[in-house]
Amino acid sequence: MTVFTHAQDLIKTLKEVTEEGIGMLNAEKTAETLAAIGRRTTLRPKIGIILGSGLGGVVEMIENSVAIPYDEIPYWPRTTAIGHAGRLVIGTIEGVPVVAMQGRVHFYEGYTMEEITFPVRIFGEMGVGGLIATNAAGGVNLSYTPGDLVVIKDHINFMGTNPLIGSNNDKWGPRFPDMTYAYDQEYIRALMEVGEEEGVRLRNGVYIAFSGPSYETPAEIRMSRTLGADLVGMSTVPEIIVANHMGMRAAAISCVSNYAAGVTAQKLHHQEVLDAMNDAAGRVIVIIRGFLRKIAQNAGHY
Ligand code: HPA
Repeated sequence: MTVFTHAQDLIKTLKEVTEEGIGMLNAEKTAETLAAIGRRTTLRPKIGIILGSGLGGVVEMIENSVAIPYDEIPYWPRTTAIGHAGRLVIGTIEGVPVVAMQGRVHFYEGYTMEEITFPVRIFGEMGVGGLIATNAAGGVNLSYTPGDLVVIKDHINFMGTNPLIGSNNDKWGPRFPDMTYAYDQEYIRALMEVGEEEGVRLRNGVYIAFSGPSYETPAEIRMSRTLGADLVGMSTVPEIIVANHMGMRAAAISCVSNYAAGVTAQKLHHQEVLDAMNDAAGRVIVIIRGFLRKIAQNAGHY
């Protein structure tokens, strides 16, 4: 009995030490990362931007920018995917201080969920209040054609895991964060308005995330459509969950790079994804710029 009680106590102590250890490690890691970024710029970004496959060129619209290669930032995950540069670019767009990731990492590259979402944690620690993610996605909705831009209104997490699994850091957010408005309603409205004002057609859809890296089968795409998905991809969902956990507003724009598997008889190739994204980059720039102009007009309300 006593031995049992001791064992229970020991397990409890070990658990506490481990959890405290993880918390401390997180705090130390983030402090080191923040210090390294802080040495390169004094700008305090308000909006974070994540640029997906083939959209890296979007950083060219950032003014007064400082670009930091990922390998010069402690603990920052390095991109291995083709079509992803690896730089953090900090500067202003329409006067709004922004931090942009030129390239992101994916679950299929072998990174843990914690590693994938570490940059969003850093954004939160830097004081970023809003996140705009972009990605390439397959069109599940039969009315979508490659090249379409879609503002994500909701998602289905089909990655089989969640970035918040593990002990919760209460300083970052609650154990059970609400996801009713995972995609901020005002941000969605602002993006749609910009589309109308600028003459860029924007659609509205639900994104389903698979882990990849194999593309989906036609049966998986039919299932996704039945579940209510309009788009399919291998990213964004972890970052959006963590942004919500930290209390940020979030939005995401997908560029339909290809018909999802089985929609046509064509096989899927990564090159067509990159080509479609290059084609869409100009319109994505127009939308992001217009969005930030609106945000700037909304003085201080990010
Ligand atoms: N499936 C998954 N991810 C993708 C696709 C797709 O068809 N296109 C671009 N990213």
